[in-house]
Amino acid sequence: MKCDSEMYKRNRWVIGNWKMNSSLVANATLLEAIVAARDESSGVGASRVAVCAPFPYLTQLQRTLGGTAIAYGAQDVSEHTSGAYTGQVSAAMLGEFGATIVLVGHSERRLYNAETSALVAAKAAAAVAAGLTPVICVGETLAERESGLAEATVARQLAPCAALMASSPKNIVIAYEPVWAIGTGKTASPAEAQAMHAFIRSELAKLSAAAADISVLYGGSVKAANARELFSQSDIDGGLIGGASLIAEDFLAIVSAA
Ligand code: PGA
Repeated sequence: MKCDSEMYKRNRWVIGNWKMNSSLVANATLLEAIVAARDESSGVGASRVAVCAPFPYLTQLQRTLGGTAIAYGAQDVSEHTSGAYTGQVSAAMLGEFGATIVLVGHSERRLYNAETSALVAAKAAAAVAAGLTPVICVGETLAERESGLAEATVARQLAPCAALMASSPKNIVIAYEPVWAIGTGKTASPAEAQAMHAFIRSELAKLSAAAADISVLYGGSVKAANARELFSQSDIDGGLIGGASLIAEDFLAIVSAA
């Protein structure tokens, strides 16, 4: 168990990943509730709270969250800065809407958009270059876990980001999300999650002493009921929340747990 001063070097985060859900009307209700609750509870030492929404909602986030303590951003970003890349969105464009954070390498993008770890690293670098914080998502599938390959998989996913993590540790967040726990209701037990987070920390320690400052979040069926125990593990610095981030009451309970 780490002493308090050691733990507090790393920021604690609760980040909502809305995925391809919601609507302007539903967002308005959700954001209003989150802003009202955070206005009362945010302060020194409070966890950082953020939401990552589909691109078209960025103006709504800017209007609603601009000037509040809640950060916001997107769920993907181009590895390119500009040019003939139809359908892609650059990190600078996200910044124009006040976004400060962006998910990269979510397992759904690795699966449905064939994103490789090298591409994910390029996206993370593009985000950092534009002043955004990339949340680099890693995690093994059930087959990889059952074959004893969980650690090797995560190490392989992190490897292309090594240089970036060593050079810009303060501008990066990692989210460990076992694929078998995402949207399935099956959460890694606190002990299983802690073991993987400890492994990730040991990989980070190999990069540079500064990498010890990188926050490592857990994601995968985090709910109000299990958040507190997960977040109390010494190497878990908060969570990346999918389904439960769409319901204000659930999301806010998870924020309180952090
Ligand atoms: P979940 O999703 O909380 O719905 O499991 C987490 C994520 O995919 O980021």
